[in-house]
Amino acid sequence: MAIRILILTVLVLQSLQIIEVQCSHKRSIDLIAAHSLISDTRLPREVTPNSYILDLHPYPEEGSFTGRIKINITWQETTDRVTLHAHEDLVINHSEVSVTQYAPDDETSFREKESSTPHTPVEIKILRNEMVPKKPLFIIYLEKSLNRGTQCEIEISFSGKLYNDTSEGLFRSNYVNPSTGERKWFVASHFRPNLARRVFPCFDEPAYKVPFTLSIVRCKTMTALTNMPLLKSEELTKDPRWIRDYFQESPPMSTFTLGILVSDFASVAYNKTDDKDDLDVDIKIWTRPDFLSAVQNATEKIYKSLKSLQEFWGLPYPLPKLDCIALPNYQGTRPADNWGLILFKESELSNKGSWQISHELVYQWLGSLATPFWWSDAHINNALARYITTYTTLKISDGKETFHNWPMTMLYSIYYEFSKRYPHGKVMAIKQDSGSTKTELVFRMLNYTLGEKTLVHGLQRFISDRQFKTFFGDDIWGAITEQARFDSTLEDTITVNEIAASWITKDRLPVLNVTRNYGDKTSTLSQRVYLRERPHDVPDQDKLLWWIPVVLIREDKLNFTNSTPVAWMKRQREIQITGLPDADKFIIVNPEEIGPFPVNYDTNNWNLLAEYLQNNDGRLKIPVNTRAKLLHDAWNLAYAGDLNFATALNMTLFLRYEREHLAWDPVFTMIDHIGRHIDSSNVHKKFLTYVRILLTPLYEELGEEPQEGESEGRANLRSSSKVFLCQAGYKPCIEEAQAAFDKWMDTENPDEGNPVSNQYICPVFKWGSQEEWEFGLQRVINFPASRKQNERTYLLKTLAGCPVDSWKIEKILNITIFEQNGNFTDNDIYLIFSMLTGGSSGYTTLFNYLRKNWDAIKKAFENKPQLWNSLITSSTSVFKTQEGLDMVQSLYLEKQGQFGTAEFVIEKALKNIKEEAKWSNDNLPVIEAWLDNYLQKNKAENEKSKFL
Ligand SMILES: *[C@@H]1O[C@H](CO)[C@@H](O)[C@H](O)[C@H]1NC(C)=O
Ligand SMILES: *[C@@H]1O[C@H](CO)[C@@H](O)[C@H](O)[C@H]1NC(C)=O
Ligand SMILES: *[C@@H]1O[C@H](CO)[C@@H](O)[C@H](O)[C@H]1NC(C)=O
Ligand SMILES: *[C@@H]1O[C@H](CO)[C@@H](O)[C@H](O)[C@H]1NC(C)=O
Ligand SMILES: *[C@@H]1O[C@H](CO)[C@@H](O)[C@H](O)[C@H]1NC(C)=O
Repeated sequence: MAIRILILTVLVLQSLQIIEVQCSHKRSIDLIAAHSLISDTRLPREVTPNSYILDLHPYPEEGSFTGRIKINITWQETTDRVTLHAHEDLVINHSEVSVTQYAPDDETSFREKESSTPHTPVEIKILRNEMVPKKPLFIIYLEKSLNRGTQCEIEISFSGKLYNDTSEGLFRSNYVNPSTGERKWFVASHFRPNLARRVFPCFDEPAYKVPFTLSIVRCKTMTALTNMPLLKSEELTKDPRWIRDYFQESPPMSTFTLGILVSDFASVAYNKTDDKDDLDVDIKIWTRPDFLSAVQNATEKIYKSLKSLQEFWGLPYPLPKLDCIALPNYQGTRPADNWGLILFKESELSNKGSWQISHELVYQWLGSLATPFWWSDAHINNALARYITTYTTLKISDGKETFHNWPMTMLYSIYYEFSKRYPHGKVMAIKQDSGSTKTELVFRMLNYTLGEKTLVHGLQRFISDRQFKTFFGDDIWGAITEQARFDSTLEDTITVNEIAASWITKDRLPVLNVTRNYGDKTSTLSQRVYLRERPHDVPDQDKLLWWIPVVLIREDKLNFTNSTPVAWMKRQREIQITGLPDADKFIIVNPEEIGPFPVNYDTNNWNLLAEYLQNNDGRLKIPVNTRAKLLHDAWNLAYAGDLNFATALNMTLFLRYEREHLAWDPVFTMIDHIGRHIDSSNVHKKFLTYVRILLTPLYEELGEEPQEGESEGRANLRSSSKVFLCQAGYKPCIEEAQAAFDKWMDTENPDEGNPVSNQYICPVFKWGSQEEWEFGLQRVINFPASRKQNERTYLLKTLAGCPVDSWKIEKILNITIFEQNGNFTDNDIYLIFSMLTGGSSGYTTLFNYLRKNWDAIKKAFENKPQLWNSLITSSTSVFKTQEGLDMVQSLYLEKQGQFGTAEFVIEKALKNIKEEAKWSNDNLPVIEAWLDNYLQKNKAENEKSKFL
């Protein structure tokens, strides 16, 4: 529930341009994906490792460690040096490096076999060792060159510091035992993506997968854990307070999956109830003793997830044990998914739900067992991991648990992102994240179009082929192709690689246009780039083509269970399909959002759909995600300028009867986006009335109070409809908000704290009295430094962003710009400017204010070009009508030459407003006529509605 509400809050707040960055709750931008950005110093492939023996001795209280590594290596080419990764923080004593040759090179070995003289180990003399400056490399120069096939063991002793304030590399942290007040230290590791080199010299690239044999020295009272089970323990002879634990040799693994924990944590094991169980793994959770009861129940979730993943992969969990740690103060953005030893934040194991736990467990196969050859393939890995997590979570929970209404929420977000003029604003991390989301949706598309069986068997084929090895992205698509050929679910001429590539390699999505020819029962399908933000002048758009599956639903043979495409558009711009139903029966292409693309139809087919959806029996025959899609596509296509607005608005008529929250989801975004776009015109008032008529019956039916045992979806629907009704001036809500606010005004010391819940503040500042708004302003001015500053920020944002009265806006501008009394910083002023772009009364007032006080403001911002630019941007660039265009143009002419650094800003603004004004000219009359008609028909509802 928390997540859904947060998304909604973010949405609502965005509509006020109060964009709270709720990083911890939004889908965190995955670091694995971000790793494909790392530019690492690659090792030459002259010598390669066969195995490691690593001995470590951490000193948790002192914050240091010592260690020794033996690496068994083979010469692949003739060379006189060995190059390893090592971080500059690592201290290597040069006298403690040795190289011993165990096996001769290929030729000698051949000769020795002939003469049957066995090879004896010889030490190779080292000329010198070098830590390469500014590179994470350690090079051992040998006295002579060795040839291909030579085998040596390198042995190196080293020491280093444990990290204190991060959860990366080998780090330490502590917690306080609440009963004794004692501070307890522990040591843990997280080496992803390339931090093993900070702890020991090694071949620190994912592709070098070899067995590790570890030993760890720990204090007698502590426990050491690594990837593998314990083999034996010995007291150190020189100091019996210490114990050396020896662990079993691991299967081949990459350095980044190595894991270590030394702690005094307590553990709870999963008790198997069924002895015949085929899951032969020791599962334990470790945590500080006083937290143990909070994570007790997670053992069962881990067990169930592991079992269902094992079934999914058709391969047993690859290690004999799995330890999951609820680590105090863990600071990573994601859990540390070491193989067999996963570090979670404490809350992640005590939470409800199992999505997050499953997500980490997937990486035990995909990443640890089969590993991307290099980080550039990690994004596919990551997308597949998320898909599998959802797949298995849905299975375990019987379809009850999903993540963010999967896949709708993420689908909508990429529809918005990829249809922008500049997708992801050229921010690399967002690009990575939306790219990975798209790839996840490609897996979903393949599941539907090739069938679940083909996809799952294809992935099983892939993992069994690549286990204990590495892979490239293409290996996954290749395995699915082979399976699809085997199952005859894909034509022989098609490969999944081609299909996937057409989706993954571009930062765009297509839109499919379906134009029916009702006379001969055929239809033309054509694809082009989906662009929503104007202007649509994206270069080279004619070159972009996709492989698009055409899954077709027809009214005369309504069947949503068959998701096999009737055709594939093979990167063809246009195709014909035939044999469609009669002219009075609709068709739906791409139901259930099987492929991540919107679909537009001819007006007649849209009208058939709108009619059908208003018929109660009919509506329920169309699954809710498809209803949502039809509605979402319609208004977005109209918003983009590709569909008549009246046709799109007809698609909202069925909402009168609709009570499923998934179908309502796209409506709230619609109210927000369209409302904001038209809020400077007369049509806006009518639009708000339409919103009230739409939402009031829904809200009243849901009831003000939550019902016992109601679903999350219903609760969210109630809170969304309430928030939007409030914004549209719904009286009961505003009275409730004012009552809460007035209690604050009555308190003796209002600056001590704010007892009003955030949802009430905006309606009060928007619809409330002067006194209430002024009270809010005083609270910002008097805000005590000792209180949380984000509360002040929230007040300031709402004070500026919510009102429609221009005097309020002018007052706050006067105080912040001209009364330099130290109560407001430049940052506050930026914030106010950007808040004012959220609604037309805001930016229009700002514009008029600028024009009126031009000279004085120019003087005040003389030495603040950034503020000046931001003022010009906020006051000129968001107008959307001809009237706005005229205003900005006349200011531009009037003050020509005086804009200084903001000259280019206003020129760009003029260009954009021209586009928007054209849109308004085309669409506002259509919207108005539709609304007039609607309001006429719903006169009765309108009159009895409780609005200000
Ligand atoms: C080094 O590794 C190779 C290949 O795994 C193995 O045959 C050889 O016995 C190992 N040498 C030593 C000294 O462990
Ligand atoms: C960690 O903290 C200790 C004591 O607070 C300090 O002496 C040490 O230098 C720190 N180590 C690192 C790696 O920051
Ligand atoms: C497993 O069994 C042991 C001993 O019977 C018990 O102490 C422990 O609490 C059980 N664990 C769980 C998670 O039920
Ligand atoms: C664990 O599960 C039991 C039984 O389902 C429940 O009563 C208990 O409250 C749960 N404990 C926690 C910490 O969630
Ligand atoms: C996979 O496709 C099948 C239909 O082939 C569908 O029933 C199932 O829900 C889909 N699963 C996911 C996770 O998309």
